[in-house]
Amino acid sequence: MGYSMRLCCVLVVLLVACACGEDPYRFFTWNVTYGDIYPLGVKQQGILINGQFPGPQIESVTNDNLIVNVFNSLDEPFLISWNGVLQRRNSWQDGVYGTNCPIQPGQNFTFVLQVKDQIGSYFYYPSLAFHKAAGAYGGFKIASRPGIPVPFPPPAGDFTILAGDWYNRNHTDLRAILDGGSDLPFPDGLIINGHGSNAYTFTVDQGKTYRFRISNVGLTTSINFRIQGHKMTIVEVEGTHTLQNTYDSLDIHLGQTYSVLVTADQPPQDYFIVVTSRFTSQVLNATSILRYSNSGTRAFGPLPGGPTIQIDWSMNQARSLRRNLTASGPRPNPQGSYHYGLINTTRTIVLQNSAPLINGKQRYAVNSVSFIPADTPLKLADYFKIQGVFSLGSISDYPSGGGGYLQTSVMEADFRGYVEVVFQNPEDTVQSWHIDGHSFFVVGMDGGPWSAASRLGYNLRDTISRSTVQVYPRSWTALYMPLDNVGMWNVRSENWARQYLGQQFYLRVYSPANSWRDEYPIPSNALLCGRALGHHIRA
Ligand SMILES: *[C@@H]1O[C@H](CO)[C@@H](O)[C@H](O)[C@H]1NC(C)=O
Ligand SMILES: *[C@@H]1O[C@H](CO)[C@@H](O)[C@H](O)[C@H]1NC(C)=O
Ligand SMILES: *[C@@H]1O[C@H](CO)[C@@H](O)[C@H](O)[C@H]1NC(C)=O
Ligand SMILES: *[C@@H]1O[C@H](CO)[C@@H](O)[C@H](O)[C@H]1NC(C)=O
Ligand SMILES: *[C@@H]1O[C@H](CO)[C@@H](O)[C@H](O)[C@H]1NC(C)=O
Ligand SMILES: *[C@@H]1O[C@H](CO)[C@@H](O)[C@H](O)[C@H]1NC(C)=O
Repeated sequence: MGYSMRLCCVLVVLLVACACGEDPYRFFTWNVTYGDIYPLGVKQQGILINGQFPGPQIESVTNDNLIVNVFNSLDEPFLISWNGVLQRRNSWQDGVYGTNCPIQPGQNFTFVLQVKDQIGSYFYYPSLAFHKAAGAYGGFKIASRPGIPVPFPPPAGDFTILAGDWYNRNHTDLRAILDGGSDLPFPDGLIINGHGSNAYTFTVDQGKTYRFRISNVGLTTSINFRIQGHKMTIVEVEGTHTLQNTYDSLDIHLGQTYSVLVTADQPPQDYFIVVTSRFTSQVLNATSILRYSNSGTRAFGPLPGGPTIQIDWSMNQARSLRRNLTASGPRPNPQGSYHYGLINTTRTIVLQNSAPLINGKQRYAVNSVSFIPADTPLKLADYFKIQGVFSLGSISDYPSGGGGYLQTSVMEADFRGYVEVVFQNPEDTVQSWHIDGHSFFVVGMDGGPWSAASRLGYNLRDTISRSTVQVYPRSWTALYMPLDNVGMWNVRSENWARQYLGQQFYLRVYSPANSWRDEYPIPSNALLCGRALGHHIRA
């Protein structure tokens, strides 16, 4: 019996209500290797997946089972994680160091994910050891099931844009800078789908409409995206179908993804697709080409201008993102049928970022705690009841006001709770926060410190839900989040230097029922390491 059959039988036996027998399986075998890449024209050792940078795209449909067998052919331990892909009941597959043992060089691990009840545009990325600076990321699309209405006609084409800042130094050199206690230098440039300027072409037919899914996969900078001579109609943000507003340009913060429709309604020629860095004194740019198939003219003229340091502009744009209440989501019911604003919250958590020096080294912290990984993944320590790996309550619900300290921080949370989370940013740089395993309603953001009175300005009717949100300088952003997914979930800065230097923690969403209805059992192929070695998986 093949792996998939066996797995499916196991699931069918274990999960009485499971429909997985009917949900299709998609198989991926990924070989992760080093290889030469030239994103900014300088030869570098990148991390490739099946020889590709960016890696192969995952194309899936709601409820598909994805079997991704990852072979690590690097000389360093490696893991892949899935930004924004919810993995319901299944933090076992999250692929971050708090949930999975690293895949050792020469070894492999098969991730088994189900994209249950989810649609939208996401990406995967390598989660360990600053590997993200070397590539190994790729697009991840979840299409609606046939028969579930999508609030726009099928586009003539569907393009993925993975853009972000880039360093000519490789990931081991960048890691050495961070390990040495310094912050990263300014990036060397921006890239689009692995290339610097004008090396990538998207070909369209005049008169047709195309979907672009744009992610910021960079390490340290927000970007602005625009297409010369064309307007963009936003249709989806990280799984939410939005009101279809039209923009000339779009700010995309670290780790975020937007879907827009673009109609090729201009004279037939080539146009610049532009990304520029945001909130930086030196403005970086990269371009790709939008080519009409009947084009006779190369792209020309000045690059279309965009915002550079304007914060109010960006905040206003963020507030203009609204949910289309009557459109379907992953299921054929209107997105407005879940009245997120009428549910009483069960707890308020205020998370404040800081940049302390600890033992003379630059670190980054949240509520004064700068996360350090334990010798054993937290999820495994929890499962095998290994004492002393982490303690619950090692990060407080409110800023403590103290300086920074190192700790393996885990916050406890009750399954079925409904929390208000406030990200408070006292620094003068933009932050971007991501919560694994959950999507949350962005109810408000504004300048200054948050207070209870800030709640009067919340959008409790039609905001979007997403998994990555920005917090402007000296500002706050508030969320409502249903704790509907049992597991050990990473909460992190999407600024990769900050994430690497401790601006993250784990949220342990716990159900006392200990039932397979709430959380899948440990996978029989789970890798063991640290103090989990020698324990046995009862399959
Ligand atoms: C991965 O690629 C490397 C380099 O091409 C090759 O030596 C190795 O056999 C491949 N491994 C697998 C599992 O395909
Ligand atoms: C990174 O670059 C340094 C030289 O700057 C080199 O010694 C090192 O081997 C490189 N590492 C990788 C993984 O390419
Ligand atoms: C490694 O790959 C083999 C198939 O080549 C598979 O049978 C095995 O389960 C994989 N190992 C893990 C830990 O997933
Ligand atoms: C909202 O979705 C509905 C249902 O699909 C669609 O008919 C309508 O055009 C959308 N409205 C806007 C403003 O996007
Ligand atoms: C784009 O960046 C290049 C350097 O990479 C620079 O020469 C050029 O002036 C920039 N263009 C704009 C419009 O900022
Ligand atoms: C929320 O709390 C208020 C006041 O405590 C109460 O009156 C109301 O019924 C609650 N609403 C829901 C939906 O539980």
